[in-house]
Amino acid sequence: MTGTEPARPFLKWAGGKGQLLDAISARLPEELTDGTLSRYVEPFVGGGAVYFFLAQRFQFQEILLQDANEELVLTWQTVRDTVEPLIKALRMLSYKYGAESPQGQERLFYALRDAFNNDRPAYDFQHPADQGVERAAQTIFLNRTCFNGLFRVNAKALFNVPFGKYKSPRICDADNLRQVSRLLQGVRIEQGDFGCATGFIDEKCFVYLDPPYRPISRTASFNSYAAGAFGDEEQRRLAAFCREMDARGAKLLLSNSDPRNVDPDDDFFDRLYESLTIERVPATRSINSDAGKRGAINELLVRNY
Ligand SMILES: C[S@@+](CC[C@H](N)C(=O)[O-])C[C@H]1O[C@@H](n2cnc3c(N)ncnc32)[C@H](O)[C@@H]1O
Repeated sequence: MTGTEPARPFLKWAGGKGQLLDAISARLPEELTDGTLSRYVEPFVGGGAVYFFLAQRFQFQEILLQDANEELVLTWQTVRDTVEPLIKALRMLSYKYGAESPQGQERLFYALRDAFNNDRPAYDFQHPADQGVERAAQTIFLNRTCFNGLFRVNAKALFNVPFGKYKSPRICDADNLRQVSRLLQGVRIEQGDFGCATGFIDEKCFVYLDPPYRPISRTASFNSYAAGAFGDEEQRRLAAFCREMDARGAKLLLSNSDPRNVDPDDDFFDRLYESLTIERVPATRSINSDAGKRGAINELLVRNY
């Protein structure tokens, strides 16, 4: 990479929107091009595929990226504020990993995962000791070396993805991390529930919302990124939030799974967002670890413009 390539997501995140970028791009508000919408808000930022896409095409004066997941937000903040020490820590982990046999790599993965989980209860996410460098490096390491490259926690918020058996995972992508860090200068990155973004949102805002999916089948209930699931009650609370932001004049675009993929009569979102424009666009969901169950399904795109 030459340093002029676009910055791209530095974590693989469940529900990443890389595949939906064309559909999203075709439905952006016109005011993004003439500068009327000068602020961008993404309250469920995850790996940030849509942020990276937009921030490198449009000029925003202010950006707020937010997510409920503390580990994720700490990692974003560390990439923004402390990128060189982070790269150094990742290089060391990468070197250690590369020097091991496959069995040694597996042992290293589980030792690091245990340390990561054991340290969590006492970890001060607001004032991290080394500005988050060690923990952010561990998060990236685990993300790169775990099975399917996911970040998943159990009900106690402990990282529980098993070892991924990759031959040579790219643990340290220094060029991209530097690109991302440059792009993030001046960007607000905050941990919290989506409702915390309320104070920031006005008629100059474009808001992209990608909440955890409503499970598309009983077995694929993959909506527990942060401890505390995002059930139908949360979806209703989000719809109320959208109505409030709509009344303020913000432009909103929201994506979600289409429950009609499994039940043609399920009109949960159609009723929830009946006053807005709802479109069904094709997507391939890759969240199912069983390749046989990956397939063509629809995704919902809801907008108020
Ligand atoms: C579908 S993912 C977003 C994926 C992202 N668009 C991407 O491309 O990587 C949903 C995100 O919502 C976050 N989340 C869950 N509950 C939340 C809440 N109440 N408020 C804000 N974020 C929440 C999760 O931590 C997760 O990162």
